[in-house]
Amino acid sequence: MKKTYYITTPIYYPSDNLTLGHTYTTIIADTLKRYKEVQGYDVFFTTGTDEHGQKLYEQAKKFGQKPLDYIDPIVASAKELWEKLDIDYDAFVRSTSEEHEKNAQDIFQKLYDKGEIYKDVYKGNYCVPCEAFFTDAQLEDGKCPDCGREVSYHEEESYFFKLSKYRERLLKLYEDNPDFLQPESRKNEMINNFLQDDLEDLSVSRTSFDWGVKVPFDEKHIIYVWIDALSCYLTGIGYGKDPETFEKYWPADLHLVGKEIVRFHAIIWPALLMALDLPLPKKIFGHGWILFDEDKMSKSKGNVVYPEPIIDLYGIDALKYYLLRDFTFGQDGNFTMRRFLQRINSDLCNDLGNLVSRSITMVEKYFDGVLPEPGEAQDVDGDLMNLAVSVRDKVEDHMEQLNLSQAMEDIWTLVRRTNKYIDETTPWILIKEDPERLKTVLYNLLESVRIITVLIAPFIPTTAERVREQLGIETIHWDSAKDFGVLKPGTKVHKTENLFPRLDIDKEVEKLDKANQELIAKRAKEKQKDKVKEEGITIEDFAKVEMKVGQIISCEDHPNADKLLVSKVKIGDEERTIVSGIKKWYKKEDLVGKKVIVCTNLKPVKLRGVESNGMILAAEEGDELTLLSTLEDIGDGAVVS
Ligand code: MSP
Repeated sequence: MKKTYYITTPIYYPSDNLTLGHTYTTIIADTLKRYKEVQGYDVFFTTGTDEHGQKLYEQAKKFGQKPLDYIDPIVASAKELWEKLDIDYDAFVRSTSEEHEKNAQDIFQKLYDKGEIYKDVYKGNYCVPCEAFFTDAQLEDGKCPDCGREVSYHEEESYFFKLSKYRERLLKLYEDNPDFLQPESRKNEMINNFLQDDLEDLSVSRTSFDWGVKVPFDEKHIIYVWIDALSCYLTGIGYGKDPETFEKYWPADLHLVGKEIVRFHAIIWPALLMALDLPLPKKIFGHGWILFDEDKMSKSKGNVVYPEPIIDLYGIDALKYYLLRDFTFGQDGNFTMRRFLQRINSDLCNDLGNLVSRSITMVEKYFDGVLPEPGEAQDVDGDLMNLAVSVRDKVEDHMEQLNLSQAMEDIWTLVRRTNKYIDETTPWILIKEDPERLKTVLYNLLESVRIITVLIAPFIPTTAERVREQLGIETIHWDSAKDFGVLKPGTKVHKTENLFPRLDIDKEVEKLDKANQELIAKRAKEKQKDKVKEEGITIEDFAKVEMKVGQIISCEDHPNADKLLVSKVKIGDEERTIVSGIKKWYKKEDLVGKKVIVCTNLKPVKLRGVESNGMILAAEEGDELTLLSTLEDIGDGAVVS
């Protein structure tokens, strides 16, 4: 029987498309899954979406939609993103699924039957975004201690969970299991800020809105969204449906969460599990945030990075490598496009890509692609070999501490050492002066590349696979990273395309930034469209658009774009330059003199370097397009309404 390992990410809110921040947690979880698997564990990985609660309800309403109509496309795009990233999850729990809702009710009922939940009236401060009540003492500067936003006074009949009675047991949990919550700083924060004084009982139902799971014995109430969400971790492994799988994987080995939701996982969740007589998770890890422009990513602040353009332009492994290597797990770190691209050039293209390409090319060039038999080792060989076989243990030590960036650094120490070995042994001289020695050198080189391939496999699997193929080996085994001399002389190697092409950083920063901005705009527009479709617009909305008749007085090709024309349009007393994507349908000379309809109060935009002041309206159907005009002739400048 294999040892099991159960890992989870938070169940994300589908209030908007997931960002690089959510992707970070998911990539770490996926990497840890792959790492544990190569170590022989039977791993189960749960992720999902947390779809209930007032916040989501309000968000859907803002766009004129019913909650699920709003949520479904976002969940679909999250699943698409995970597929694109080759995330190997085993369960994707939607908290609105029938299976989960039944579990949430079952858990609530159990707690009630055991006397862990009672009914009372809640009076006090409520934070809508966090959907949580706070006592005056818990507030920080009068604001929510979790998110820092305003709270409002609230009175509501509510069911309460007897959290207060678990304080002693929670303190003991921390005392007996120093590794239960990591990193250390978060543990101290929990103990000092929350467990030092008495705990308040927790309000676990709401009556003020109804987007949630009904309390089974009192349908006026819905279950507090955090109880609903946390229990998704149980649903993922078959709670209530498949006792065998549940027994096999529970308790979780690791709940990965961002630092802002540690309290829910490290205090409320263990107390609930204690009340349910279920074993406690072995570890909670509260990681830091990926900041963008030194600030937490937020759509409202306009500083969001979406992972899709990054993956489309540079591939999964470039993103994975950067996130694993550049951010110290547990701490906040700043994402910059420039630094990301620099890492691709320095670590992936220069260090790893060049090593693989040079090594394989030399075997092809000097030995017809057939791996030679090594002779006796010299000191410089021993040096390389000793390092190569020692890296696996170091990686394991660091992974044990969830120090992923250091694990990557250990592997890259070997990558750089192996590159240095080429410079030290100068194969291009040996081919002339000592071809026998060259055999040993190239063998050692490829064997080191093989060990590197084994080591990178859980972290950047696509790249590992591409190198494996070039090395002409069938499979890669984690354990074989401890042995030097595994490659069989006589193996046929073959070079394929470079792993990571070298990038022009300035150009790529611009390209990536543009792609990200375009996606932000596209998603905002789609949501807006849905809203407009649902609600309609008022006459005041329509009146905001200013349209006039204009006459095209000249028309040129755009200097930097194949599909665009640049027209000068006379509109009454003024003359404007307008860029339009109509070259496919109109010859520029045919347009001169034509009267068209122009939207005149659009903000100016630069289109491929030429400023456009307005938009010429057109009707489009499939592949056909025609410009709009008036039925009878009328002077330019005439107002369209
Ligand atoms: N629905 C709750 C979690 C319930 S778990 C039982 C929630 N959802 S969330 O959509 O807001 O996701 C928060 C999680 O996403 C964070 O805890 C973190 O794992 C990840 N991240 C989202 N943005 C992030 C960054 N900018 N940086 C790092 N991770 C962050 O909270």
